[in-house]
Amino acid sequence: MTGQIRAMEVYDIPRVLEIEKESFTNPWSEQSFLMELENPISQMLVLETDGQIAGIICYWMVLDEIHLLNIAIAGEERGKGYARFLLHAMQAHAEENGSTSVVLEVRENNERAIRLYERFGFSQVGRIANYYPEDKQDALVMRKEMKWTNR
Ligand SMILES: CC(C)(COP(=O)(O)OP(=O)(O)OC[C@H]1O[C@@H](n2cnc3c(N)ncnc32)[C@H](O)[C@@H]1OP(=O)(O)O)[C@@H](O)C(=O)NCCC(=O)NCCS
Repeated sequence: MTGQIRAMEVYDIPRVLEIEKESFTNPWSEQSFLMELENPISQMLVLETDGQIAGIICYWMVLDEIHLLNIAIAGEERGKGYARFLLHAMQAHAEENGSTSVVLEVRENNERAIRLYERFGFSQVGRIANYYPEDKQDALVMRKEMKWTNR
């Protein structure tokens, strides 16, 4: 797989919004991305293949925990290992930062994403009823503990 991960820039937002809209029923707005790009605890990364953005990942680093907020791959680029590649980049960053866990919420019916996270070592640790107000879906809370060998 060829691809390069780099920090998201303001000029990426139009393409990022295209991916966001095809990925979520309640996509982040331009304003949300602009706010997160200014947020010192936010990490906003894009994955480029052949000069085109194929996916994004956004997470907060808060003390020793990472909160995964957003991961999305363009429709035609799915199933190529790109999401896993982005999760590996987040995990490498977690290791550098000394983060000890990653937590996320995922729609209970998002089987692809749940499978991705399980294969990446996340386990379900909770459930939040009616977390997604637009269709009253529950969120599963998933967590991965990091066990760094050098700590
Ligand atoms: C979920 C999503 C990010 C996965 O991205 P992806 O690049 O296709 O995933 P990868 O190719 O890296 O696949 C990694 C794992 O995801 C799972 N997966 C990927 N495509 C799948 C499919 N079509 N059916 C079932 N599981 C699938 C598999 O477990 C796969 O591992 P495996 O190949 O060893 O079985 C992508 O489908 C997406 O953008 N969905 C819309 C946005 C979204 O739901 N984001 C998550 C919000 S919590």
